[in-house]
Amino acid sequence: MDSSENITANPRIAAGAETISTLIERRLSRRGFLGGLAAASALAACATRPEGDAAFAAQEEAGVFRFTELARGLDETHHVAEGYRADLLMRWGDPLWEDSPAFDPLNQSAAAQQRQFGYNNDFIGFVPLDPSEDGSPRGLLCVNHEYTSTNLMFPGVTKGYPATVTREIALTEIAAHGGTIVEIRKGATGWQPVIGSPFNRRIMADTQMDIHGPAAGHPRLRTTDDPSGTLVLGTMNNCAGGITPWGTYLMAEENINGNFLGKLPEGHPEADNHKRMGVPGGWYQWGRHVDRFDVSKEPNEPNRFGWVVEVNIADPTSKPRKRTALGRFKHEGAETVLAPDGRVVAYMGDDQVFDYVYKFVSARAYVPGVTGFEDNLLDEGTLYVARFDADGTLAWLPLVHGQGPLTAENGFHSQADVLIETRRAGDLLGATPMDRPEDVEANPGTGRAYVMLTNNKGRKADDVNDANPRGPNRFGHIIEIVEPGGDFASETSRWEILVKCGDPAVAEVGAVWNPLTTENGWFASPDNCAIDASGRLWVSTDGNDDTGAADGLWALETEGPRRGTGRHFFRVPVGAELCGPRFTADGETLFVAVQHPGDGDGASYEAPTTRWPDFGDASPPRPSVLVITREGGGPIGG
Ligand code: FEO
Ligand code: CA
Ligand code: CA
Repeated sequence: MDSSENITANPRIAAGAETISTLIERRLSRRGFLGGLAAASALAACATRPEGDAAFAAQEEAGVFRFTELARGLDETHHVAEGYRADLLMRWGDPLWEDSPAFDPLNQSAAAQQRQFGYNNDFIGFVPLDPSEDGSPRGLLCVNHEYTSTNLMFPGVTKGYPATVTREIALTEIAAHGGTIVEIRKGATGWQPVIGSPFNRRIMADTQMDIHGPAAGHPRLRTTDDPSGTLVLGTMNNCAGGITPWGTYLMAEENINGNFLGKLPEGHPEADNHKRMGVPGGWYQWGRHVDRFDVSKEPNEPNRFGWVVEVNIADPTSKPRKRTALGRFKHEGAETVLAPDGRVVAYMGDDQVFDYVYKFVSARAYVPGVTGFEDNLLDEGTLYVARFDADGTLAWLPLVHGQGPLTAENGFHSQADVLIETRRAGDLLGATPMDRPEDVEANPGTGRAYVMLTNNKGRKADDVNDANPRGPNRFGHIIEIVEPGGDFASETSRWEILVKCGDPAVAEVGAVWNPLTTENGWFASPDNCAIDASGRLWVSTDGNDDTGAADGLWALETEGPRRGTGRHFFRVPVGAELCGPRFTADGETLFVAVQHPGDGDGASYEAPTTRWPDFGDASPPRPSVLVITREGGGPIGG
């Protein structure tokens, strides 16, 4: 997540304005580095906490979380820690406008899906608006729809797939990808969507958008339909993302390879590039019905995906812009934070085993109340890839055409080439191959950032490095980056491993947690994370079910004697992972995204592993956003 709404102010959107006139002194006011907070790590492998121990009470006091831990488990529904409630806010198929067709899973169409909340919600952003006339809080929820689970969405497709994927099913999936912007208001019954709000919008895999930055217009981005190389239809596989300091919504394009099928013409110059991105993955059948998703017909179309997209949510008629300066890879997310001099820094993971961690530093500074979408701050700057050295140094290596190996001799004829083939540029610079870098979240209050490394079952024992020390790494780990003086734009940082995930009671797992971590407090496969209003770290998982318990959300201490202690807060129904944790600025509301509920080996529309959240006899499972609040009010997590 992005912590932009977490700290101050009264960000607001002027209806009808060209840009959001807002936001936040917060990042600048918090830019000072609150160093010296790092107490000695008490990390050690351990299984149980010393309940009843006198020392425990003192240590509990030293922690920053106060809630009764949820028990590990796995069943058909979700669970939240005692004293909290989790309410449905938006489900797949829910209406956004008065004329949105009612959800009818047996009669789905692209036309209906275009007017409804999309599938497999992932990233959640929240940008506050001015309160309603009656004083009730309101804001814009920005939700990514990462992918479609064809087998769970549509009756009958598992029998005879792919032939059963009709053109209408493919077009419905195209409409179910992308994102949703929906106004929500908090009334007597809690947070509710505002059906028909002028801000409501669907962004889909065929929504017209512009390509911006150094790669815009490059011949490698030109296609039959777009000889300019600047106009693309859609964004897709939008995993995590970010909210910028100026209140725009960043959508990260991740597993775009799966949407393409077909065979490149023999000897095609994009062959190696596409291979490095896994194109064509052939996970979807769209290319049977829509030519541009067939690489034999449009070999350059994949080069137009794999970017970060910026959406001006203040103006629902605005065209989103693909910001090519941030590179092309399987972008997990794009969280932003400000350097002390006001430059914008986006931390980014490339979600693939043995791929890299990046950060982008804008050339120009953000000016509060002035900078907006039209200033195109994300079009100029330096993209860096990370090399984690054994001595705890992190070198940020600039991906700049003409520097080092990034020259014509190696096939890089311009900065556009470097950006289109960011991964290969990182290879040549000697970046550190990581264990699936997913979300990276900076804490503006401490000058640190946290890197979620989900797992890497394919890493060999003889191919480990200091930053990825387990081979195989079945359960993932979390790295803490310390930026010197809190300067997020620094080209040299420090790093250390915060926790090695998995069950600390099983010696061969090699997990490392604070010994105070309980049997419920450890987890596996960290994926998304969030820094809450108090600067505390929360981690959500994708793959904890490998350990026999559901994915979910854990609070994770980063300071003092409890540093490295997890505490279980929420878990999802069977088949699902948890995405998008997002806190409001007052810390009293937490939005979470339950993605792919009901999935599992052999799961289908007819036989899902759960029918959450509707539980009708024939209800399909529905990916949904939940609102978590504390009974009686108060900050989430105590
Ligand atoms: Fe879409 Fe990286 O999880
Ligand atoms: Ca993710
Ligand atoms: Ca994931």
